[in-house]
Amino acid sequence: MKLIQITDLHVASEGEFTHGVDVRQNFLDILQAAKSFAPDYLIISGDLAFDTANEQVYHWMKSQLDAIGIPYALIGGNHDDSTLLAKVFGLEHLLTDGDLYYKLPLGEQTLLMLETSKGIVSEVQLAWLTKELAQLDGPAVIFMHHPPVSGGVPFMDVNYPLRNMDDVQEVFFRHPHPVYIFCGHYHVEKMLCVKNLAVHVTPTNYFQMKWQQPEFQLDHLRIGLREINLRPDGVVESAVVYYEGNKI
Ligand SMILES: [Fe+2]
Repeated sequence: MKLIQITDLHVASEGEFTHGVDVRQNFLDILQAAKSFAPDYLIISGDLAFDTANEQVYHWMKSQLDAIGIPYALIGGNHDDSTLLAKVFGLEHLLTDGDLYYKLPLGEQTLLMLETSKGIVSEVQLAWLTKELAQLDGPAVIFMHHPPVSGGVPFMDVNYPLRNMDDVQEVFFRHPHPVYIFCGHYHVEKMLCVKNLAVHVTPTNYFQMKWQQPEFQLDHLRIGLREINLRPDGVVESAVVYYEGNKI
């Protein structure tokens, strides 16, 4: 099962100020790049919106996604409005109290897609996650916008963390198998391992930042995607591929 993850697309309205980055062309380019891998599924892990959720932008993105002919699934990020996302993408049946979280069965594997757009995993969702993990007799594969562990990126860890990550970790730690997590949000490429968790932070489609400094500092404008192979031998293989970004 081959997945491609793209994240933090931050697509703006036409003409909107985007600090000199052509985020719309970046989006079109990363879709073509994703298609070249011939994946079974494309996963979009949040922050489709540039800054504030915009229905017209979501409709434009949906038309582009539908056109590439790859099945896809998405979750919201902190710049998204999950209720609006669900409305535009026809996912309203998956909403619970305005949160868009759900399980996605793909062949032998069930992916769990979490909602963190408000910077927190609700109590109701945590109860659902606990129940869903208990039904998995093996490793879990999770997509969520925010990393559920401190990322070692001071600017993000201090300003924009998942606020109840301790509670979320506790649920994951109780799973008696590995938990493979794929997220975005931090605008860096990282891997974080703790106990049974392997957290993959995927670079964005907008800009990447230097993660060593406490203050924000731009690293580069290349864009990236993550290829994920859930292999029949049980190995979870993953690699990030970068492409040139577009400037206005
Ligand atoms: Fe984000």
